Amino acid sequence: MSDEIIERIRQGVDIVDVISEYVVLKKTGQNYKGFCPFHQEKTPSFIVSPPKQIYHCFGCGVGGDVFNFLVRHERISFPEAIRALASRAGIAIPQRKKPANFERDVLLKANKDAAEHYHRILLESSAGTDAKDYLDKRGITRETVKRFFLGYSTNSWDELLVYLSRKGFSPQILEKAGLVVQRSDASGYYDRFRGRIIFPIFNLQGEVIAFGGRVIRDADDSSIPKYLNSPETALYNKGESLYALYQAKENIRKLDFAILVEGYMDALMSHQHGVNNTVATLGTALTTGHLREIRRYTKNIAAVFDADTAGIKAALRGFDLFIESGMKVKVISLTDGDDPDSFLKKRGQREFLQVIKKSPNYIDFTMKQSIRSGIFSFEEKLQMAEEAIELIAKIPDSIERGSYVKRLSEELQIEEIFIRERLALICKKKDRVRKQGVLPGENKKRVTAEESLIQILITYPEIAKKLVGKFDPEDFTDPLLGAIAHCILLSMQSGEEFDVNKIITTLKDENAIALIARYSLMDVEYDDIEKAANDCLDRIKEDRLRKHLTKLQQIIKERGTSEMTDELNVLLRKKQELLKGKGNPKNPMIFGD
Ligand code: UTP
Ligand code: MN
Repeated sequence: MSDEIIERIRQGVDIVDVISEYVVLKKTGQNYKGFCPFHQEKTPSFIVSPPKQIYHCFGCGVGGDVFNFLVRHERISFPEAIRALASRAGIAIPQRKKPANFERDVLLKANKDAAEHYHRILLESSAGTDAKDYLDKRGITRETVKRFFLGYSTNSWDELLVYLSRKGFSPQILEKAGLVVQRSDASGYYDRFRGRIIFPIFNLQGEVIAFGGRVIRDADDSSIPKYLNSPETALYNKGESLYALYQAKENIRKLDFAILVEGYMDALMSHQHGVNNTVATLGTALTTGHLREIRRYTKNIAAVFDADTAGIKAALRGFDLFIESGMKVKVISLTDGDDPDSFLKKRGQREFLQVIKKSPNYIDFTMKQSIRSGIFSFEEKLQMAEEAIELIAKIPDSIERGSYVKRLSEELQIEEIFIRERLALICKKKDRVRKQGVLPGENKKRVTAEESLIQILITYPEIAKKLVGKFDPEDFTDPLLGAIAHCILLSMQSGEEFDVNKIITTLKDENAIALIARYSLMDVEYDDIEKAANDCLDRIKEDRLRKHLTKLQQIIKERGTSEMTDELNVLLRKKQELLKGKGNPKNPMIFGD
């Protein structure tokens, strides 16, 4: 896709219109403001600028142009975002070239054909009668069968293999798709799924990436597993895929809440009862990958566990990380041997939602589990509190943290002060870890000369033009900022009119784009912009020089030779020149030291 088309598309849409479809925006001065859709916040720090056609969140640091927004929010690729916005702007774009990933396309096609085949057998062939009867008995309606594209694989060893071979798929490809298995003596292949109800697993684009298959009798001989799932393939990653997410994602977004269950049947029954924001893990433990998927659509999760699930606590461990990022998790443990499927059938949708509503959140739930009742010594109580305090330390909101401290103190009958002390200690440790890994764009007080210069270059192209030839991207110590400086320089030298959006298109790097968005929306006042820019330039050069000097001196010290002294003298002279005629630089943003 040429940069020219990208620019035409950009000019054909308005970033405010596009983002307004996802975020409520209010006009404030020249810009629009709203709650950031990418992190949870109490006061809006998400800014969209119509003149610059850029968005940025001053809270979490994300930002970029309209394409970047769609990519991030809709989880689509850059070309997909271009396509979406092109059709919105009514701009025709050249047809897609030969697909870059041929094998992936073939695997997807094989899965699609297999799913259609299984579906047809279930609904149209006499071989599917038993399976249909079984689904009827389980209360799965025909509508659900169609919506989730359920199917049936016959008892034959090679029914699918023969069918797909005839359509031109090689057994090797079918094996890579996980549809057939090679015989142990390597004499051929056989169908993986035989005599099973088939549950296709879709990715977020609605493509079939894997299958689950269930035997159609209940108390079958236990030598064969109840469910069989596709192995991991080039298309399918168990730790990330969630059953029914494709069907649920829009509802999750609308309701701002997802229900997480354990089984295929539970997810189906839930949707069938109109609870259509439900997804299921696929026979694996819950991973952070799963939660990340859900987080695209909501911060609120209700995790429903079967009554008999052993070690719910272990199953929940993955949530810890997400509590820290402000995710809200409720934990529901059903009683009386129920799973969501049986519960919904017995008690209906209203009661199901009631139970979820009344359930404790993750912190409460886990806290209860760490605290046993009885008479304990102070030391024992502190020990019990320890786990709970670790958990409380993860809550990002300080008010919420405070209320848990209070409850824990009441629960264990120990003074709040002991809990607070412990908590403060843990929080401090965490803070230290966090500070070490400051992301670009995260709130930090001191802005470096490099950042400051980039900010000026982006905001004041007239000044930037004057500086061409004076600054060298090589002087930047931060590689990200150096890359940005390089792009700005190229754009200046091209003689075209300067546009931050063009820089964004050229850069492509997400972190660099977020930084650019940030700098171009930052409000900084300068008495004399040009002087400020020159101060930055001097500072950058000086920093680089100083670093170079230190290194040289180090080398000289180590090797004890005088070979380097010439170079050292040159550098020293340069440094003198630089420092000469330069007063104490003042700039509102920089030089905090
Ligand atoms: P369940 O045994 O709770 O199954 O396992 P279910 O979904 O409630 O199905 P029904 O009601 O018996 O028909 C929960 C999930 O664990 C995985 C499947 O993803 C299943 O949906 N599982 C279970 C397997 O992968 N293999 C098995 O043998 C059993
Ligand atoms: Mn079940």
